[in-house]
Amino acid sequence: MKITIPNIVELKNKRIISMMTAYDYPSSKSVSDAGLDIILVGDSVAQVVLGHEDTLSITVDEMLHHIKAVTKANPDCLVVGDMPYMSYHVSLEDTLRNAGRFIQEGKVDAVKIEGGSKRVETINSLVNAEIPVMGHLGLTPQSKNIMGGYKVQGKSLEVAEKLLNDAIAIERAGCFSIVLEGMPSVVADVITQAVKIPTIGIGAGISVDGQVLVLHDLLGMKSKEYTDAKFVKRYSEQYKNTVDSLRRFKEDIENKNFPSEENSYKAGEDIEKSLKSWRKDLGKIKLS
Ligand code: KIV
Repeated sequence: MKITIPNIVELKNKRIISMMTAYDYPSSKSVSDAGLDIILVGDSVAQVVLGHEDTLSITVDEMLHHIKAVTKANPDCLVVGDMPYMSYHVSLEDTLRNAGRFIQEGKVDAVKIEGGSKRVETINSLVNAEIPVMGHLGLTPQSKNIMGGYKVQGKSLEVAEKLLNDAIAIERAGCFSIVLEGMPSVVADVITQAVKIPTIGIGAGISVDGQVLVLHDLLGMKSKEYTDAKFVKRYSEQYKNTVDSLRRFKEDIENKNFPSEENSYKAGEDIEKSLKSWRKDLGKIKLS
């Protein structure tokens, strides 16, 4: 059955919400078949799939391309579309138009935006337009230039207090849940206790109401040149399996083991016979 926003909100304090990124049709099907609660079409697609250095350069149209593939799979999960950098920063009108496209063209159930108190007006106007909003606080990748890189946030009392105030502000503005990324577990714990909406952590410890990971990290789909962040738990080694499989495919071609009889089509017996005899005589046949 399709999971709704009220279903997610009801899971507050149970610490069982599961969210996973998906950027295409087959991964959307897998996440839904596995029974997870939420799919996030994250702007992390920019780095993970499109090879960009960061998330800053992905556009609304590029996000929509991935979002449409995800929602075409009709997942039971709630689908949240990540609003890319500059799609909600210019004006409220522009923000509503972009988020509206996610709902109308992309068919997502909600959008996610990064940032705290400074996003209150934006969140308000989205919610007033009946667009549910997931917030995102802590290590917010779209602020990497301001933060001076991807750094754990909230290690000082001052910043921890700012994060707490931000969480309360965006809850009041109308967010139905908040992603807490890259912060000490104790900070995420205090925020989780302070707000009535579910918190979903990534690198934020165990006290939050749910967990999210990037599918490609969980499946080990990245090559050795990427080092996993501390918060990643790998459940599979798919990059290694893919490279091994491709090597075996190449070997099979070189050793004439592929395609075998079972991978090949047959004509009727009499036609097979005639064609085999033609084949023997090919040198002698004069084609008109
Ligand atoms: O883009 C993304 O994948 C995210 C998650 C890491 C929360 O924002």
